[in-house]
Amino acid sequence: MTVSNGRRPDTGQFVWGVSTASYQIEGAAGEDGRGPSIWDTFCRQKDRVANGDTGDVACDHYHRYAEDIVLMRDLGVQAYRFSIAWPRVLPTGRGAANELGLAFYDRLIDALLTAGIEPWVCLYHWDLPQALADRGGWTNRDCAGWFADYATLIARRYGDRVKQFATFNEPTLFTLLGYGFGWHAPGLTDRSALLGAIHHVNLAHGAAIDVLRAHVSGASLGAIYNYQPCFAATPADEAARERLTAFWDGAMPDPQLLGHYPSALDAEIEPIQQAGDLARICRPVDWFGLNHYSPIYVQSDPGSALGFRLTDPPPDKKRTGVGWAIDPQAFADTLVLLDQRYRLPIFVMENGFGSREQPDADGRINDQSRIDYLAAYTSALRDAIKRGADVRGYFVWSLLDNFEWNSGYGARFGLVYMDYPTQRRIPKASFAWYANLIKSARMQG
Ligand code: FCB
Repeated sequence: MTVSNGRRPDTGQFVWGVSTASYQIEGAAGEDGRGPSIWDTFCRQKDRVANGDTGDVACDHYHRYAEDIVLMRDLGVQAYRFSIAWPRVLPTGRGAANELGLAFYDRLIDALLTAGIEPWVCLYHWDLPQALADRGGWTNRDCAGWFADYATLIARRYGDRVKQFATFNEPTLFTLLGYGFGWHAPGLTDRSALLGAIHHVNLAHGAAIDVLRAHVSGASLGAIYNYQPCFAATPADEAARERLTAFWDGAMPDPQLLGHYPSALDAEIEPIQQAGDLARICRPVDWFGLNHYSPIYVQSDPGSALGFRLTDPPPDKKRTGVGWAIDPQAFADTLVLLDQRYRLPIFVMENGFGSREQPDADGRINDQSRIDYLAAYTSALRDAIKRGADVRGYFVWSLLDNFEWNSGYGARFGLVYMDYPTQRRIPKASFAWYANLIKSARMQG
């Protein structure tokens, strides 16, 4: 049963899972008819990605998915969230589908179901077909229609076996970093491109929700949002904080779930909107997907396209191996806030710890800091539930170390270490820790 922006009855067990994304793990970038995405292009531009890394091979999951499912079985997860590469199934983004690409996801989904693991499919984790970018990509309003056609293809092909669908992963983040800061593909620093992208992604979300609802019987639908408290670096940066909060936390969930833009963005979005757009964007969904790692810190920067920039956490704050602030209390507070603001069941679709670890002399990875982080965050999650937040699942980012966007392969978030030259997968100490957590949580019912 679906209740528009209301409560969905709790019918199942708490879901434990792991998450990945197509471009970060699949590799096989030029194989079986896959078309190029904006990330293939971006990686080839000078100084965009650390070390000149690309997703050409990544974890070679395209060929090694069966081995990765064995790892998931060993972990004991009930669910696996992955994304479909739009250019693998529609090499130019629209028009003729690529049967070989579609068949890959058939194999993956069938193998997951055989292993007793539920597939959670995200339609868009940032790999826009380059051919669509050549037509303006998300800055073109037509992109919403192209996305809806792609969603129709996916719903018809996999909707008999997949019921959990997310439209977008972190839509506020890929628009802000891709069109505002220029750190992610397509690498623009253009305020009006950013505002257009935000609105068109919102339209694409609403259109895709309608398509999935129409074509997938028993569908359970949502989107996956990053949501983190933004803190001003100094009291003088308060205006920057308000503005970043509107872009970072509000620009997608508010119109998609409440039917209005954050007031700080209203005036700027207004000229792009057409009559009826907010009703097209705000469609009934079943859950709120949350990605949360850390609070973020902001400073005003009159020289930047948006008037602000991100900055380091204060020196007294504990940090992960990639410099992100560790603040489990902020996670618990965010869960409670989201519960009250959007009144939807919450699935934590990403949480994890990045570092630059290497195996020790015995070839083991004793990632105690990751274990400490995950223990603190899962305990904060339990606190949030005690405080009344309706949280129904938790997915670790990520199963494997993988291509971490502009940080390349240096930043590692996996429960499993990737030895890239040999493609050997080595479970870290955190892998056994998470397996135990799931086992004891499931024993307690
Ligand atoms: C999130 C992304 C995911 C991964 C993690 C570390 O913002 O959704 O792809 O890069 O951060």
